[in-house]
Amino acid sequence: MAWAKGLALVAGFALIVAAVVWLGVAWNASRVPGSFGALELGPTDFGGGAPVARHEQHVGARGISVVALREPKAPPDVRIRLVAQTAEIRLPSGRTVDALTFDGRVPGPELRVHEGDFVEVTLVNKNVSDGVSIHWHGVDLPNAEDGVSGVTQDKVLPGGSYVYRFRAPYAGTYWYHSHQHSADEVERGLYAALVVLPRRPAETTDIVALAHTLKGVPLLNSSDREERRRLPAGTPVRLRLINSADVLRRFGLAGTTFRVVGIDGRDKLGGRVLDGKSVAVPAGGRYDLAFRMPQNPVRLAVRGQDVGLVLDPGHGAAPETQFGAEFDPATYGAPAAPVPSRFDRHFAVNIGRKLGFFKGGMKLGWQWTINGKAFPNMPMYMLRAGETVEFSFSNKSHAAHPMHLHGHHMLVFARDGHGVIPWWSDTLEINPGERYDVAVIANNLGIWMFHCHNLPHAAQGLVTHVAYEGVSTPFVMGTASGNEPE
Ligand code: C2O
Ligand code: CU
Repeated sequence: MAWAKGLALVAGFALIVAAVVWLGVAWNASRVPGSFGALELGPTDFGGGAPVARHEQHVGARGISVVALREPKAPPDVRIRLVAQTAEIRLPSGRTVDALTFDGRVPGPELRVHEGDFVEVTLVNKNVSDGVSIHWHGVDLPNAEDGVSGVTQDKVLPGGSYVYRFRAPYAGTYWYHSHQHSADEVERGLYAALVVLPRRPAETTDIVALAHTLKGVPLLNSSDREERRRLPAGTPVRLRLINSADVLRRFGLAGTTFRVVGIDGRDKLGGRVLDGKSVAVPAGGRYDLAFRMPQNPVRLAVRGQDVGLVLDPGHGAAPETQFGAEFDPATYGAPAAPVPSRFDRHFAVNIGRKLGFFKGGMKLGWQWTINGKAFPNMPMYMLRAGETVEFSFSNKSHAAHPMHLHGHHMLVFARDGHGVIPWWSDTLEINPGERYDVAVIANNLGIWMFHCHNLPHAAQGLVTHVAYEGVSTPFVMGTASGNEPE
């Protein structure tokens, strides 16, 4: 029997050694240096296409720095100054919140510009100690204006400033937010709406409905309860739904029929009239609804929350809140664009979880993965200017992931392997078990963040980049530099 005991002892010992080795390897793989460039992260993924050169830090003469990818100078049509500062916000319910703000308000100033305007925004940081930046969510602008600390600029410290210049490319609904410690700073108030109006004057009344959770308090625009607004019957309305919270929001519109006329800053044409449908807006996403103000009040509500907006023509009772079947963009309106017939690269984005460590920490836990790899070993998607590429998302985790690509719109053309009516999106909700195929035209040189817009997920590592051949960045992320975009 002694030999059996011995064998068990040896086996047990081997198991412990294997476990320790596994833990060591997993821990080591999770480590990130105190300072690293965006291109120094995960292994390259060429999507089955020709390998392209990846320019590391301090690139030679042939590379283009993100810093050079600016809008050509022009006299600005619009000049804006935004001051990031702490403030105590008093909400309509009487509750007060210690917030981070643009110009002392939450949300920050709603910016309205016209399509084609040359916009110049000076960001000043008065006293936000971790530093700030501004990312123009959904605006496909030159890389240097993208506002990602550690990738396209350094964070702006208290006393500092930074000037963004871009031409507003498409009429539509956008928003802006800090991309330094974004999971924390956006939640605490550093966000606001950006509306790009069409050139031709429209008699439409534009109403923004921006849903947020401010340090646990649900908000619609600047209110934590239902607000009322007078609006004469017969007014054409464009209601711009924006979700700046970390999870999906369901909106219900009662008292009128409506059409969905825009998604993520692109017009949605040819849609039929809807009655009583709920509109689910992913975290970071935008949906525009259009209707003509009826003789009776109209009520916009957010599912599960006390916030809302009643538009009141001056008579009649406000209708009951209504949340009907969910609107599905996949079966609505006219195709946004033809689906490309061939792709230069096919990128897989399979989201899952695995047991491991995070950033060299000592806590073993479930980490987010892409194609089986956890941060910082997520695939670095590499492509070449002028290509047309496909991204195929799948979600094998238990949570939804609103995936956001900077600098580009994705043409969504298939769900679960079946063709859909294509629509443009920059923030696409991928539910557990779902698969989406999207096309991206590589026409905007740079290094672009590509991440989940449930911002705590991004902060827990669900973040990677799409990089163009020959582009480098002089900026670094990590604890040493203090640039921490998530
Ligand atoms: Cu709205 Cu990378 O962000
Ligand atoms: Cu996520």
